[in-house]
Amino acid sequence: MKEIKVFAPATVANVTCGFDILGFAVDQPGDEITLRKSNSGKVKIVKITGDGGALPLDTDQNSCGAVIKMFLNDLGTDQGIDIFLDKKMPLGSGLGSSAASSVAAIFAINELVGRPKKLEELLPYAMEGERAACGSGHADNVAPGLYGGFVLIRSYEPLDVIGLKTPNDLYATLVHPHIEVKTKDAREILRKQIYFKDSVKQSGNVAGLIAGLLTSDYGLISRSMHDYIVEPIRSILIPGYDEVKRAVMDLGALGAGISGSGPSIFALSNDHDIANRIAAKMKTIYAGFEIESETYVSKINQSGPKIL
Ligand code: HSE
Repeated sequence: MKEIKVFAPATVANVTCGFDILGFAVDQPGDEITLRKSNSGKVKIVKITGDGGALPLDTDQNSCGAVIKMFLNDLGTDQGIDIFLDKKMPLGSGLGSSAASSVAAIFAINELVGRPKKLEELLPYAMEGERAACGSGHADNVAPGLYGGFVLIRSYEPLDVIGLKTPNDLYATLVHPHIEVKTKDAREILRKQIYFKDSVKQSGNVAGLIAGLLTSDYGLISRSMHDYIVEPIRSILIPGYDEVKRAVMDLGALGAGISGSGPSIFALSNDHDIANRIAAKMKTIYAGFEIESETYVSKINQSGPKIL
């Protein structure tokens, strides 16, 4: 194989109560990467489209370039690679944009050189890509991006990632209002310490959400989708947040929250019509604020990256 093109999906991290430990993949949007073998002996970023010129072309500073270089170094090969990245999703959106690029890059290079590593061995590379992009190697975007589905990161040291079965008729609705929130900034504003009582409530909700997903107990999923720690701080950065959340709950969402570090907002529901109605309402609310937005409705993506 001389060339490969791969799509990797957007992801919703945190899922309300699970800061840095819960995330799921959606069918769209996502990023596309094309890798071509070259005789240059170098990893080179040839072209990036769709980023408005925001991403660095320097291989070491770009998460895709850095991840591919690291991977090839570990394999002990000086195979040259030309990278063409097509950003099909907005930066700083809370939809796991940097994760989608890192996942696409590591999945693609592994396939291109004959799949020397197993899928789970690719995760630490994708996490390094996340670290290069936003200063933190959290896995709640890259793990669902790479494996598909809904995942729990039970532990970071050692890394222990668990795939969670989800009900078949679970729908995610996402809205991306056109405002940029950098993950690095959204992490810096968080409190370094939390109250014991908030930790107890949050743990109860994480456990409840997982139990609800595994048993298709929508009432339990709904009761558990509350975040006492991060949402009160980050929601201040998102215009219209409270209004959107109230409206989608009135329309029958099981729960709603900030997607990753925002500004995108997600809602879960167990009915396709409700999911579509939520999308329309989200769009109307942002139009009222004169903020452009995109919406997406998707089941939980179970397949992760795919070769195009
Ligand atoms: N868990 C991360 C955060 C996801 O909320 O900062 C953002 O990429």
